Amino acid sequence: MEKKKILSGIQSTGRLTLGNYFGAIDNWVKMQEEYDCYYMIANLHSLTVRNDPETLRQNTIKIIALYIAAGLDPEKNTLFIQSQVKEHAELGWILDCYTYMGELSRMTQFKDKSAKHADNINSGLFTYPVLMAADILAYNADLVPVGDDQKQHLELTRDIAERFNSLYGETFKIPEPYTKKVGARIMGLQNPTAKMSKSSQDPMDKILLTDSPDEIRKKFKKAVTDSENKVKYDPENKPGVSNLMSIYGIIKNKTMDEIEKQFEGQGYGAFKTAVAEAVIERLEPLQNKYNELLENPDKLMAICNKGAKKAEEKANRVLKDVYKKVGLVIE
Ligand code: TYM
Repeated sequence: MEKKKILSGIQSTGRLTLGNYFGAIDNWVKMQEEYDCYYMIANLHSLTVRNDPETLRQNTIKIIALYIAAGLDPEKNTLFIQSQVKEHAELGWILDCYTYMGELSRMTQFKDKSAKHADNINSGLFTYPVLMAADILAYNADLVPVGDDQKQHLELTRDIAERFNSLYGETFKIPEPYTKKVGARIMGLQNPTAKMSKSSQDPMDKILLTDSPDEIRKKFKKAVTDSENKVKYDPENKPGVSNLMSIYGIIKNKTMDEIEKQFEGQGYGAFKTAVAEAVIERLEPLQNKYNELLENPDKLMAICNKGAKKAEEKANRVLKDVYKKVGLVIE
């Protein structure tokens, strides 16, 4: 039987955080045996904010290295860069014509991002979820592993696919989101009521996957908690400590009850140290592999070139079908 398909991606704006790791990559690694996986670097999406071109280029390569360092095997997965497969942008345009302004205006990420970038509310920022729909539908992906913040975009993708199918007959598979209960929403360390975001201006709010042990220790030490000094899971009233507990729980594979018991009678100081050490230990092998991989960027590009070739073959078949169905002449 043919394996089910997975597609997911991460933008190459900024450097990846612990949120990207637990919300996305760590789950991808677990899925690589069972599924036919396409993992890309969403660099076209990155253009919705202003980047220094050289930094964008470098970030793209760094993220490929992180994917592999985190455990994605290039032999088992199709790894590529979004801009290498032009079908994404082409399908994106077509799907734009089947998506309503009203739908896009309701996207919470659009509202958040336009508030953050009030001087640059470009139309790419507005139609960004349609390009994401194209990424997914171009491969007829069955499952899309993402963090909580992308679920609304997945819902829209499903609506667009259903709309297209009802107009032109069965064309797209309707994809399912895949999120884990724990890790789907890692919160900021300074503002634990908002997600940890790679675009956050405050470096103390986020743990980067490339942070040194000392930086990690410092950031957890300064993480915002509350004055109760009691390790107890209560996301509503104790969002800071609850977030730290989630992080610790994922790494140590422990329930919140078990963590409460383990740290009973101990203050936040000891708990924060334990969380920091757990994160450092988890990231160490990843960081070593990452540094090693970056020494040979040509090899990384060769992996992406091979992945892009395979991806393009798949996406092109779907795109041709779409062109035909809507009446676009190509040959
Ligand atoms: P991006 O780059 O913002 O985030 C990449 C992935 O990381 C997850 N994530 C988090 N998970 C848990 N806690 C957090 N604090 C956290 N922050 C980020 C996101 O949910 C996501 O899974 N539009 C997408 C990229 C994209 C894409 C796609 C994803 C483009 N095309 C097609 C899936 C399928 C984005 O900006 O993700």
